[in-house]
Amino acid sequence: MRIGVYPGSFDPVTFGHLDIIERASLMFDRLIVGVLVNNEKRPLFSADERVNMLRIATRHLPNVEVRGFQGLLVDFAKEVGSTVIVRGLRAVTDFEYELQMAQMNRTLDPSLDTVFLNTDLRYAYLSSSLVKEVASFDGDISSFVPDFVARQVAEKNKK
Ligand code: PNS
Repeated sequence: MRIGVYPGSFDPVTFGHLDIIERASLMFDRLIVGVLVNNEKRPLFSADERVNMLRIATRHLPNVEVRGFQGLLVDFAKEVGSTVIVRGLRAVTDFEYELQMAQMNRTLDPSLDTVFLNTDLRYAYLSSSLVKEVASFDGDISSFVPDFVARQVAEKNKK
């Protein structure tokens, strides 16, 4: 069975992430979406909230499973029986950081490879950080995230 891992912070999940998940789900028998729990970036949403949003947004994809993970990605990949990490590349600006991570992960575990999917052009400019910034100034984020996610972001901003 081919198992892929798509890791990230997903704070919150965007249409860019969902596009990668849908495409990657066609390439593997199972795709595990790994949500980083111990995130240094001080996320807006708790790990449980991020996992739940992803579960709802991917429930039409039967071979996709969403799980939180702590610690090293290479350990999580091994735990779920995967040797392939999937990452999305939006632009050349992502490349340096992504290559660095891929090299580090392959050094930590040489049986692990990273594959990159180019982000759909519709979402090439999209990031969770920009979505949060737009929402924090009451901007409309309905083209960037599912409606239920937009409502949860708005709720956070009220608090
Ligand atoms: O969505 P992000 O924030 O770009 O995802 C980054 C993520 C979660 C893939 C990365 O930070 C990660 O794998 N963290 C787990 C800790 C780890 O393994 N660090 C070494 C990776 S080189």
